[in-house]
Amino acid sequence: MPPILQVNVDHVATLRQARQTIEPDPVDAALQAEQAGAQGITIHLREDRRHIQDRDLAVMRQMAQTRLNLEMGATDEMIEIACKVKPDMVTLVPEKREEVTTEGGLEVVSQVEFLKKQVSRLQAGGMEVSLFIDPEADQIKMSAQVGAQAVELHTGEYANAISEEARQTELSRLIQGSEEAYALGLQVNAGHGLTYFNIQPIAGLPYLNELNIGHSIVSRSIYVGMTQAVREMLELIRNA
Ligand code: PXP
Repeated sequence: MPPILQVNVDHVATLRQARQTIEPDPVDAALQAEQAGAQGITIHLREDRRHIQDRDLAVMRQMAQTRLNLEMGATDEMIEIACKVKPDMVTLVPEKREEVTTEGGLEVVSQVEFLKKQVSRLQAGGMEVSLFIDPEADQIKMSAQVGAQAVELHTGEYANAISEEARQTELSRLIQGSEEAYALGLQVNAGHGLTYFNIQPIAGLPYLNELNIGHSIVSRSIYVGMTQAVREMLELIRNA
């Protein structure tokens, strides 16, 4: 079975927020992505609300027909929001106000007790919890330790590799990370920086369950429409 595709529609909201208007609407984009075959929708409610707004999250929860994955920082404010809205899954990510996009994975090793508490609050609210981490053995081990059901392996280093050799090195780390996570009983997801050009080796990772892809699909949708953009990505994943 190929991994499922969850489309991240944050950057539809980025375009809307550039003019503080009502269009384009990320919920509308998500429904089109689902109609085209996406098996889940991902949004990131950032502390600074630079793209997705609280209202988008509430409406998305009502409208999404597949799975809703909410990316967020592990703050008390976000945990309270998630417990009210109840997405199907929460992916905890590190968040810095000054970054353009998420940089690096969550530091689990140094925050075990804190994350244990936040993960169990989310699970008590009925949500599955995934941790967005670098493919490193100790981060993976501690993700299982804090009680997460899943990890999302950060593919950013792979995506940014400037030589074929570096890309193969990053791919090997991701393969090893998938195997280690699976052996610990964790569901294996992956995402960040994935495009139509670099997706196929990642879609072939062992035990991979979900892919979260945003910027590249939203970018392509400007030229070919969301339906076609999602179908093309699904086709690449299926044929990986
Ligand atoms: N996964 C996580 C945890 C992310 O933070 C992001 C970016 O919001 C993505 C996946 C999607 O990355 P991209 O937009 O580069 O496809």
